[in-house]
Amino acid sequence: MDIKSTIRVIEDYPKEGISFKDITTLLKNKEAYKETIDLMAEKLKDLDFNYIIGIESRGFIFGAALADRLNVGFIPVRKPGKLPGEIKSLSYDLEYGQSTIEIHEDALKKGDKVVIVDDLIATGGSAKACTKLVESLGGEIVCLEFLIELTSLKAREELKDYKVISLIEYDH
Ligand code: PRP
Ligand code: MG
Repeated sequence: MDIKSTIRVIEDYPKEGISFKDITTLLKNKEAYKETIDLMAEKLKDLDFNYIIGIESRGFIFGAALADRLNVGFIPVRKPGKLPGEIKSLSYDLEYGQSTIEIHEDALKKGDKVVIVDDLIATGGSAKACTKLVESLGGEIVCLEFLIELTSLKAREELKDYKVISLIEYDH
């Protein structure tokens, strides 16, 4: 099945010049969603890890399904103010402005091995911030996996110290 063809591309959303990759059309197609999780799981099958970390929001859709498929726990990295316990928080720069992500301080212990999952990597800012949060808790990042990579933004340079997997590429 051609999964890429089930992703709808919407030009000039959320602002002019952005070519938005809309995964809702993939998700509502049960064969496409299932095969996406199959393929993402297949690429992780030889790696040794204890948890999938999903980045809110769209990272939850793939990360949670993958955790279930691979029989490991799921840890959410959330947008600010959503986690009820003691948290670690990290702010990072976007093209315009700033963003913050948070994780429960007791979500990981030293030496836990994790795979970070998100739907898409663009600049790599969110993923990089997530690596810092995980490492601040002593977690070891085995791999980062994305369904979609926007290659012209060169996020891999930002993440050159890590194993990075993506399934589908677009230039931008
Ligand atoms: C989007 C996307 C990735 C991130 C990628 O999330 O889902 O998480 O941006 O961009 P980056 O590599 O430049 O950091 P966003 O927070 O826009 O929305 P979401 O809550 O729908 O996931
Ligand atoms: Mg996101």
